[in-house]
Amino acid sequence: MREVVSRYANLVQKNGRYWACCPFHNEKTPSFHIDIEKQTYYCFGCGKGGGLINFIMDAERMEFPEAVEFLARMYNMEVPTTESEGEALLKKRILAMNTEAARFFRDMLSTDAGAQARDYIAHRRLSRQTVLRFGLGYAPDSWTALTDHLRKKGYNANEMVLGGLAAKGKNNGLYDIFRHRLMFPIIDGRGNVIAFGGRVLSGDGDGQKYRNSSNTPVYSKKVNLYAYNIAKREKVDRLILVEGYMDAVSLHQAGFSNTVASLGTALTPDQARLISKITDTVVVCYDADRAGQAATERAIGILRDASLKVRILRIPGAKDPDDYIKEFGADAFSALLDKASDSSDYRMQNLKQDKDLSEPEQKVEYLKQGCEFLSNLTSAVELDVYASKLANETGVTKEAILAEVAKLREKKAGAERASRRRTELDPGRLVQPPRDGGVRYSDPTRARTEEALISLVISHPELVEKMPELRREDFSSEQLGRLFFEVRERIKDGLDPTAGLEQSLGREEMSILGKINAALYPHENPRRELGDLLERMMSRRTGEGDTDPLLEIKQRKSKGYGG
Ligand code: UTP
Ligand code: MN
Repeated sequence: MREVVSRYANLVQKNGRYWACCPFHNEKTPSFHIDIEKQTYYCFGCGKGGGLINFIMDAERMEFPEAVEFLARMYNMEVPTTESEGEALLKKRILAMNTEAARFFRDMLSTDAGAQARDYIAHRRLSRQTVLRFGLGYAPDSWTALTDHLRKKGYNANEMVLGGLAAKGKNNGLYDIFRHRLMFPIIDGRGNVIAFGGRVLSGDGDGQKYRNSSNTPVYSKKVNLYAYNIAKREKVDRLILVEGYMDAVSLHQAGFSNTVASLGTALTPDQARLISKITDTVVVCYDADRAGQAATERAIGILRDASLKVRILRIPGAKDPDDYIKEFGADAFSALLDKASDSSDYRMQNLKQDKDLSEPEQKVEYLKQGCEFLSNLTSAVELDVYASKLANETGVTKEAILAEVAKLREKKAGAERASRRRTELDPGRLVQPPRDGGVRYSDPTRARTEEALISLVISHPELVEKMPELRREDFSSEQLGRLFFEVRERIKDGLDPTAGLEQSLGREEMSILGKINAALYPHENPRRELGDLLERMMSRRTGEGDTDPLLEIKQRKSKGYGG
């Protein structure tokens, strides 16, 4: 662990323990701790933590299997695999074929046949360097140019069809999917060419302006972003999210290499997760038209769910970011970027849009929607700022607005209390929203008791035998419960309490484990401590005896309240 971590952070030893400035967020004094013996890390600053594999996932921005592979390679070990050999082989073949196809398209660009594509590139004002950097190419105006080429290189019809580059026509003949188009290879975070987009060379091509690879064994458009391979290498404090290939390419050319494109589809949670791996702030810069703004509204929710900070950039006087850069230049865009409104401001602006505030009815409507929106803000500062703004815009006093907000909140709190009463009876619903690094506890006091208990059994496994049966609902969060029971199972099986836990637990549980190890609970009198902790936990058990809480809900439901 020490050896691996020291490749990424400067470890210092203090009282026999290892600390560093966190490699995952900016800080001047070390709050990043590693536990050499138990092989975990935890940063008290940003809440990231886990085991060795989790560390590689964070440091190399990899998914679990990749990180396992990466570590195995680092230690020259055999790579474990879950995929069937046939599947793995096919994927490898398709990736190699895609690379070959990208090379073919690129080479075509400098042939006679590529003249029109070169003209188009000039017309879009893309530099030579940009063309090279994005590996742009040209798919010739032919039904079989690519398929012929790939066949010569040893790829068969099956591979071409499954890889999304060819289709079967009449008489089972193969034909090229991409013809007479400017080609954009889509490259993933590992540098693999996983798919292509192709643009017609003139106009907007009646509804088929862009053709994109279908989903294939190596590509799912829901989990990838265009230009991610380049943006990922940037150490930046924010990422710009645009809609189109051209927007991304053009922003990169103008120096904004922290840009990715969601490629015309609605942003997905998987894409948001990909983004949250490399930054914590996103500036959404979609098309100015109505579709673009509707997509922005949806993207805000999805990005926020992934714990990202969201800012919105509107582009006045242009239809999309590419247009804007061409019209007004990179400096103007940079200025817009600095002024990008936060998502609350953006939403308020949207509520006001198309309303004539000199019309009493429309003004009341705006106030209603505005107060409803304000009542959902969690930050008191934000509430104050936007309440003032709403007051100024409408000429209504801020006091009146805040009173209305308080009323709405009270109403909501009532509804929430009712729903919480139901949730408490249903442990299955106690799941917290996932957050990258660190877990938010709904009840920090209880959580501390439970963390102490887990720490205690890890350092004194023999105590497990002396414990009464704990239940899932004795824990205040799903994650703490899962961690406890997993550790207890290991101890009962005579294994090391925490070795290899990463295989069976998620990021949040592992982060908690890292935190527990870093916190260094003293455990001076283990037996007495166990007694105290259990007593504290058991005292929560209400006098319900051994009734099944799920059963209880069903009974209540059938009595007519609680649904
Ligand atoms: P736009 O039409 O806004 O594309 O579609 P754009 O990038 O501004 O295109 P240019 O500037 O005219 O070249 C945004 C994105 O939606 C997807 C593409 O990913 C495109 O970049 N799209 C659009 C398609 O997949 N197919 C289409 O026919 C159109
Ligand atoms: Mn455009």
